[in-house]
Amino acid sequence: MSRSADLARLIRERAGAEPVSHGLILGSGLGHLAAGVEGVAIDYADLPGFPHAGVSGHNPKLAVGTLEGVRVAVFGGRAHYYESGQADAMRLPLEVLKALGADRLIVTNAAGSLRPGMPPGSLMMLGDHINFSGLNPLIGEASDARFVPMTQAHDPAMRTRLRTAAEAEGVDLAEGVYAWYSGPSFETPAEIRAIRTLGADAVGMSTVAEVILARFLGLKVAAISVITNMAAGMSDEKISHEHTRAMAPLGAGKLERVLRRYLRDLD
Ligand code: HPA
Repeated sequence: MSRSADLARLIRERAGAEPVSHGLILGSGLGHLAAGVEGVAIDYADLPGFPHAGVSGHNPKLAVGTLEGVRVAVFGGRAHYYESGQADAMRLPLEVLKALGADRLIVTNAAGSLRPGMPPGSLMMLGDHINFSGLNPLIGEASDARFVPMTQAHDPAMRTRLRTAAEAEGVDLAEGVYAWYSGPSFETPAEIRAIRTLGADAVGMSTVAEVILARFLGLKVAAISVITNMAAGMSDEKISHEHTRAMAPLGAGKLERVLRRYLRDLD
């Protein structure tokens, strides 16, 4: 038995055998949604091989149960590359998600905005991304499955449903290109000018590795950023992790409404 199959069995023993439909990964300061799941919450520490996910503002628990009538697995904490130097730190959790039966993943994050008209508190769905980190979670993967196509990696049908859910909730949902910067230091203003020129609309330290892993595993994936600040050099505000955490709730309520509506309206 593989490690992910063993962990999936352990989770089913606690959360019931009904297959999961969607996985959700919650970003910094966006953990509230996990509390709404009717089911069980399992500490990552009880899931051997799960990352420590030790960044403040994350809640390292896996909630498995029902949200808006849909069977979900909600990852309250994610591992970032910058914590361990491992770009594939979320591989096992996503393999477990797949072993639980899921075929779709929604990723959320906190991000800096590169668009003057997209201020803190805005939501931006990722239409595409730029891997500005030079890293890849599939380095070392031996099978030919590693050559994952990344055209339309962000699933068009899921994005349409998310857009429809946002409209139904009266929430503005921008769409744009997210650039993955490894962190943990924030970007310099020159780096932000560079990635603006390259076509990025938002910047953050997560998500892209998870999208690549999801596509590798055959999961459909969509991602939404909550804008917590203007990127470096674009405003006078100081950029910090505390600021990210403090600003995340500005957009988190809207994000929760969009995600709940999306789930409720699935058929
Ligand atoms: N840069 C990178 N990651 C972030 C930012 C940012 O400006 N804001 C929130 N996460």
